[in-house]
Amino acid sequence: MDKINKLFKELWNEYTKVNPQTQEILDLFKEKEQSEIHNDHIALRTIKSDLIGIDQVAETFINLGYEKKDFYTFDQKKLDAYYYAHPNKEYPKVFISEIRPEDLSDFAQEQINNILSYINENTNLLTSGTNWPKSYEVYNKLYKESEYLAWFYAYGFIPNHFTVSVNKLKTFKNLNEVNEWLESKGFVLNNSGGKIKGSPEEYLEQSSTMASKKEVQFNEGKYLIPSCYYEFALRHNGYEGFIAKSADKIFESTNE
Ligand code: NI
Repeated sequence: MDKINKLFKELWNEYTKVNPQTQEILDLFKEKEQSEIHNDHIALRTIKSDLIGIDQVAETFINLGYEKKDFYTFDQKKLDAYYYAHPNKEYPKVFISEIRPEDLSDFAQEQINNILSYINENTNLLTSGTNWPKSYEVYNKLYKESEYLAWFYAYGFIPNHFTVSVNKLKTFKNLNEVNEWLESKGFVLNNSGGKIKGSPEEYLEQSSTMASKKEVQFNEGKYLIPSCYYEFALRHNGYEGFIAKSADKIFESTNE
């Protein structure tokens, strides 16, 4: 296995530990397709800063030959994002977003500074999860202000989602068939803005599961909160980018 595939395998392992449902879904796809399932992209969340911003998170991918591509901004959610792609299109794209601390409350900024105080040169910005103490009270307060920041506070450095490339599936004609099949297996899909975000005219259609809940250890005890989700993407006309309006809704797959 080459270095890039090895990295994605490690990322998958951490991701599926947080939401084992993703492995279950992957196995069902493999069984139906009788082949490997292609990953369109992964998404990573972080905080804008010199220590752990988009550029820092992207470093491992840049070192493996990835290139920085298009910029996206999400004003309501106070997020910016870039996607990265490898010249070899067989490798998954990487979508990295960061929340802008300067647009958040003093309380949120204090929590961000606390997180940053736990970052050091040994922190793996892709798979190390959290190494800061977590309070359920703080989580809930952050959640009211920014679901995105609350999720990062609880889970830290792990992939937020992987994405099945629907283009490469042989037994499904379109994204709607994928969605109906998943629902027939009992999986709950994100319905924010409709199950399918985007359209063939926009060159990208996306859907996703709702993140299943995971018991997370906080200072006060263990609590069930939304974890990671699985996305499904169908691209048209060879389009490689993303659509801000759709991504905005996909972000909500980790809502309560
Ligand atoms: Ni995505």
